[in-house]
Amino acid sequence: MSECVLQAENLSKHWGGLKALHEFNIKFYDKSLHSIVGPNGAGKSTLLNILCGTYPATKGVILYKGNNVTGLKSYQFCRKGIGRSFQKTNIFKASTCLENCCIAAQQRVGGSFNLFKSRQSSQFIKQIASDALAQVGLSGRADTVASAISYGEQRQLEIAMVLATDPQVLLLDEPMAGMGHEESLTIIELLKQLKQRYCIVLVEHDMDAVFELSDLMTVMVDGQHLITDVVDNIRANPLVQEAYLGNDDEVF
Ligand SMILES: Nc1ncnc2c1ncn2[C@@H]1O[C@H](COP(=O)(O)OP(=O)(O)OP(=O)(O)O)[C@@H](O)[C@H]1O
Ligand SMILES: [Mg+2]
Repeated sequence: MSECVLQAENLSKHWGGLKALHEFNIKFYDKSLHSIVGPNGAGKSTLLNILCGTYPATKGVILYKGNNVTGLKSYQFCRKGIGRSFQKTNIFKASTCLENCCIAAQQRVGGSFNLFKSRQSSQFIKQIASDALAQVGLSGRADTVASAISYGEQRQLEIAMVLATDPQVLLLDEPMAGMGHEESLTIIELLKQLKQRYCIVLVEHDMDAVFELSDLMTVMVDGQHLITDVVDNIRANPLVQEAYLGNDDEVF
């Protein structure tokens, strides 16, 4: 097993009386893809939001490479190397694909490299941005405004924007949502490549994609951890069948 890069210990997020995430324990490993699945409202997005500082946890600890990072702000998580994409598209539609990635790269390097401060830093940011576009296969779209590319390409662009922040961990929230079959296949191939180099945490409802891609899977229900295991064991687990699938064998 590769190095554990990100870990949650007894992590909870309560909204008033609602336990969106409750005493959750999980470890994510480098150079692998770990999927989080569960019914609507299970707390999957909440988990990602807490793991990248979008919201503070109510309780619990987040460790990144063994260091306690609980309570850091989202930009601090980003600069440490924890990047995320959102369930709903989060791109600037009027900007070009390259500009979108430049904005993301700027987020990582922050104040030390002001985009407009010097020609050198601007070139540096542009290089990071165009490398990120190349990684997702969108080099040919660099100068196209984001509103003019297809929906599938927009979701690829979102992954490029995460890559432009130079992460070690990618938290991806439903990157295939709303896609047709062909577009999903493109993302699956992309994630197969990326998981060789990054720690990927994937929240996804497309079970075919999840089974094809996952090194580990976690099932969560009502904010709680149900099981973490390899794909074949998850498929066969009666608890999963009952709690997540309502005994509907056909879903698996
Ligand atoms: N900002 C918020 N304020 C109050 N409640 C919230 C907030 N965000 C999420 N919740 C609640 O927390 C619970 C978990 O929501 P979450 O979005 O994490 O679920 P999910 O597993 O991502 O679902 P889906 O598959 O539909 O995306 C839900 O009951 C939701 O209504
Ligand atoms: Mg969600």
